[in-house]
Amino acid sequence: MPLAPIVLAPERERAQALARRFEKRAGAPPEGVWAAPGRANLLGEHTDYNAGFALPFGIEQCACVAVRRRSDARLRLWSEQAGATELSLADLTGERISGWAAYVAGSAWAASEAGARATGFDLLLDSDVPMGAGLSSSAAVECATLSALAELWSFARSPLELARLGQRAENHVAGVPCGLMDQLASMSAEPGRVLWVDFQSSSVTPLDLPLASAGLELLVIDTRAPHQLADGAYAERRRACQEAARSLGVETLRDADVTSLAVAPGAAPSLGPEWRRRARHVVTENARVLAAVEILRQPGPASRLQRLGPLLSASHASLRDDFEVSVPHLDVAQVAAESSGALGARLMGGGFGGSVLALVPDAAEAAVASAVRAAFVERGWSEPALFPARPAAGARRLL
Ligand code: GLA
Repeated sequence: MPLAPIVLAPERERAQALARRFEKRAGAPPEGVWAAPGRANLLGEHTDYNAGFALPFGIEQCACVAVRRRSDARLRLWSEQAGATELSLADLTGERISGWAAYVAGSAWAASEAGARATGFDLLLDSDVPMGAGLSSSAAVECATLSALAELWSFARSPLELARLGQRAENHVAGVPCGLMDQLASMSAEPGRVLWVDFQSSSVTPLDLPLASAGLELLVIDTRAPHQLADGAYAERRRACQEAARSLGVETLRDADVTSLAVAPGAAPSLGPEWRRRARHVVTENARVLAAVEILRQPGPASRLQRLGPLLSASHASLRDDFEVSVPHLDVAQVAAESSGALGARLMGGGFGGSVLALVPDAAEAAVASAVRAAFVERGWSEPALFPARPAAGARRLL
């Protein structure tokens, strides 16, 4: 079966339609419509909270919000996908809020904490970022909301500062102890480019990713295996990394010595086998990102991108064996993709479910899709969703 094309409504039409639906609910037109994308990540997983490197990018699917300020303190929030809820400014305390409203209310809380003069507002959300797929649907909502509030509450902030506010919303109000990658990618993404992020200096360097000229596609295989970062395993990995860094006498694993961890098992005896594996993942993952950056920065034919494939597969092996964040759905999708023509594939995002990202020559796309589907059918699993991830624009105003 060929891949189902994803039909994305042209941006302006989508924004106008959302504005009309907003007006029906709110009784007045929105003051604007803003969008922010979900993110994929070429390479660099669980490196953001270790002051390391990653290569995320924005995808075409995004969260759109239509917003209008109110003269009172009410927050009336509607989601096209997930129902309605009402809060007031007094509820923005930084305490946990459940459901999708946490991303909007959390962003409003983080902005007001950062000094914005808050007003009540009506907001209608429409998102086509698949949820639970490891594509940061929540960061997209935060970044769209913060882009809107930055204008409506007149508090000018850089994309990096807004990303940090989104992360704060996620950490405190949604209760997910994530790093900065998702929000930074959603805020700063550029069409046709990946972002080389150095999380120590928080610098973002966009690099061209000429997939089409290379005859390649980055295929997302959303395994639809349940995906839950808040369940403690992510926080446990963060703690293990901190402990490992402490045992190694470095501030963060960014500064850990590759050779002692990767080669000499006798080195750093204070590090138990589990922490050693966790640390080795981070150290080798950083090295893989830098190897990818070298490939991306080289002049020469786009076909050099094929050399990214083995780096992706090595990343998967490391996430599976050393960091231990894979699950059978991800491993099966990864192997099926690789053995049917993908040049490399790996689980993407936090792990424990979500998606695999595969680097696939155009000519092999149909074979990869049917091999992955067949592998899932054989195991009695529900069908995965497959679609291309194409680097797209970051947070922006649409109307
Ligand atoms: C999740 C988190 C990110 C990052 C990734 C793993 O997506 O939100 O901050 O840690 O996992 O790379």
